[in-house]
Amino acid sequence: MTLDASGALEALKAELERFGQANDAGTTERPRRMLNITRDTGEFLSVLVRATGARRILEIGTSNGYSTLWLAEAAREIGGAVTTVERAEYKIGLALANFERAALAPFISLVHDDAGHLLQRSEYHAYDFVFLDSERPAYPAWWPDLARVLRPGGLLVADNATSHAGQMAPFVALVKADPEFTSCLVPVGNGEFLAVKAPA
Ligand SMILES: C[S@@+](CC[C@H](N)C(=O)[O-])C[C@H]1O[C@@H](n2cnc3c(N)ncnc32)[C@H](O)[C@@H]1O
Repeated sequence: MTLDASGALEALKAELERFGQANDAGTTERPRRMLNITRDTGEFLSVLVRATGARRILEIGTSNGYSTLWLAEAAREIGGAVTTVERAEYKIGLALANFERAALAPFISLVHDDAGHLLQRSEYHAYDFVFLDSERPAYPAWWPDLARVLRPGGLLVADNATSHAGQMAPFVALVKADPEFTSCLVPVGNGEFLAVKAPA
């Protein structure tokens, strides 16, 4: 990537950070809020994708695509791609525009659907890396499919593990009770819960 292109992507990320903060401060209507990850979480995801060489990435909860940009930028560097799922039509439109502006659209498949449905129709071991950033009460019901779609050695990262620890507790307990997974909490941003699946 040229320095110009990298500067443009940085400028877009900074613009989206300002937009997300101003937008979310101005509305209590949850569907209208962007609820983006923090910048340090984006940096963390970027390092994780590069370090693990995760080429097949699934993101659950696109919003306007801020976190997707971090994932897709890293995926592009290592020959990978991101599938990201969002059910809100309004946010799909925002995300698509941002992917085009970032010149990352070729590395992103945006699925307009309920994440539970996407998980159900995904194949065994379809993903190397899953980033979970959606409606937390749904996570326990998704766990069997999340565990199934991750390849052996694959990594799950879930946001809001400290900011919403109470809501995350049932899901964290399920993952911790699964002997196939080793997990930890990383105090970056809103708290990232990491779980790696045992190798084959
Ligand atoms: C916290 S926001 C995602 C923020 C985004 N990852 C970022 O950092 O830029 C959660 C998103 O998940 C979407 N969502 C909630 N439940 C969903 C579901 N069952 N299927 C698909 N999307 C869902 C919401 O519409 C919302 O846009």
